[in-house]
Amino acid sequence: MSTDIQTSAKVIADRAPGFKPAVGMVLGSGLGPFADTIENRIVISYDDLPGFPKPGVAGHAGQLVLGTVGGTAVAVMQGREHFYETGKADAMKTPVRTLQAIGCETLVVTNAAGSTVEAAGPGSVMMITDHIAFTGQSPLFGEEGNDRFVDLSQAYDADHQTALRGIAKAKNIAMAEGTYMWFCGPHFETPAEIKMSQIMGASAVGMSTVPEVILARHIGMRVAALSIITNLAAGMSEVKLSHEQTMTMAAKAADDVQGLLTDFLSNY
Ligand code: HPA
Repeated sequence: MSTDIQTSAKVIADRAPGFKPAVGMVLGSGLGPFADTIENRIVISYDDLPGFPKPGVAGHAGQLVLGTVGGTAVAVMQGREHFYETGKADAMKTPVRTLQAIGCETLVVTNAAGSTVEAAGPGSVMMITDHIAFTGQSPLFGEEGNDRFVDLSQAYDADHQTALRGIAKAKNIAMAEGTYMWFCGPHFETPAEIKMSQIMGASAVGMSTVPEVILARHIGMRVAALSIITNLAAGMSEVKLSHEQTMTMAAKAADDVQGLLTDFLSNY
């Protein structure tokens, strides 16, 4: 285990003695307020956790929030590092491995994404059931050993998907499902790239999530992932794409995702 993981795990153990979260979470753009719903909160700045990101994107707080939601102990990352910040796909390696080291068996990943499906417009929620790593990058470049050849044929946990489907139905949330295609960013896609992504089978496009999912699967964590659809992807509408628009729409659509997450954790 790298020293950063050991040190970060120790900082967490010192601040929250005996605390053992079952679920780790990464909150994407617009979902930061979910962390306010956590009970018995202990907040640790990423500055105190070696190997954790220095978030450079507006809308990402940069802290780990420990506590409980519906009785389930959680460790919630309010902010992530993206591939486009440094060109390193393994930026989230220490955080994901630290979450496992302190006890998390599941990683729930959230993001803001553009939709390539007309029917799933801004404000809708999509459960990710599969992904395409279109960047051609892996967070596991440089890893050694046979377990680096990770089987991703069921990257998104089937039982977690069933649970989320049931919750969406019970809460009357029209949750879409589909394949998330990871583009490098930070620029948005072109209309031609979006046409390609549709042909390739993507339902949503975005600039995050896939590295964390691969890192989590590599160490045997179970994964669930939700996208907040903030826009129709490039070329599909007249709306100009911008980070400001992503943030505004993500905040508007966050309620449904927060409801899904709260019930998912309460039933965990
Ligand atoms: N493309 C990539 N990332 C995004 C988008 C998009 O259209 N919307 C929100 N994040």
